[in-house]
Amino acid sequence: MIDGLPMAFPDPALPTRVRIHEVGARDGLQNEKTIVPTEVKAEFIRRLAAAGLDTVEATSFVHPKWVPQLADAEELLPLLDGVPARLPVLVPNRRGLDRALALGAREIAVFGSATESFARANLNRSVDESLEMFAPVVATAREAGLRVRGYLSMCFGDPWEGAVPLERTVRVSRRLLDLGCDELSLGDTIGVATPGHVTALLTALHEAGVPVDRLAVHFHDTYGQALANTLAALRCGVTTVDASAGGLGGCPYAKSATGNLATEDLVWMLDGLGIATGVDLGRLTATSVWMAGHLGRPSPSRTVRALSHQEP
Ligand code: HMG
Ligand code: MG
Repeated sequence: MIDGLPMAFPDPALPTRVRIHEVGARDGLQNEKTIVPTEVKAEFIRRLAAAGLDTVEATSFVHPKWVPQLADAEELLPLLDGVPARLPVLVPNRRGLDRALALGAREIAVFGSATESFARANLNRSVDESLEMFAPVVATAREAGLRVRGYLSMCFGDPWEGAVPLERTVRVSRRLLDLGCDELSLGDTIGVATPGHVTALLTALHEAGVPVDRLAVHFHDTYGQALANTLAALRCGVTTVDASAGGLGGCPYAKSATGNLATEDLVWMLDGLGIATGVDLGRLTATSVWMAGHLGRPSPSRTVRALSHQEP
């Protein structure tokens, strides 16, 4: 990195600290054509934690036929003993929760959809049926002392249904939170949101009584808006941001989904705004370069490319 860059110019309208919820090992790798060896995934997660990421989503306990890339969840989790980070896992149903509990998972996420088409494509259920499927999962997980995140996909637009009305996203958000989710992550699964839309949704959620400290944002970068959308969300008081090391990512059940907001691009901006994250950008970039070597293609992150091409 070039010494002293980026220079920090704090903005009093923004939070002083942001928690990054790293999704590269889950959202990133679930969409890879090649199956990444389990030991490489474990090393990826260890390196992410060592770079200062305190929440590293590890894998999903979904049906292995639906997401073959993450079919090794049972083998992966024991390799992560002692990793100094929270390691949430995705769980769609009772079967997934049982598998996660058997391995000692401490944090889970259920994942719903604001639209019927994606609920059907991703979970083989309607929106109502998927919420019915989640209800006992959330209740049991909380009784067992687990922290529960709820994801809501297609909050801004849907590849089959087009524009998603704010009221609909607000309605399903409320229902997920009412199930008992500690946190709700608002997903722009196909990356179509723009900053005004983000502000409008967060305002609508605020007006519906949803406290901003229970919200996270999850932007995919299909149209290059993820960082601008994140800044809009920070201005509305959001302090938890999902991102994926190196910009890996997508969703196998939503064709137009590309990579997530790259964690390095996010950290570069937050460093420049003087916002603390605890992340060491140099170590994180080295991790993404290492992972890109395993995947056989360069990282799509602009920051990874810029930093890794600099002369030492
Ligand atoms: P289904 O076919 O309706 O399942 O799939 P079912 O309930 O009818 O059960 C059929 C069989 O699957 C049964 O086996 C179950 O035991 C088994 P059988 O009795 O026939 O031998 N089964 C399981 N096996 C292992 N683990 C399980 C499990 N559940 C059932 N958990 C299901 C329903 C939910 C399972 C399926 O649709 C599924 O696995 N979907 C996951 C899709 C997925 O992972 N998508 C990517 C994550 S979401 C995302 O990326 C978006 C996000 O990033 C935010 C954003 O960007 O918006 C989070
Ligand atoms: Mg996603």
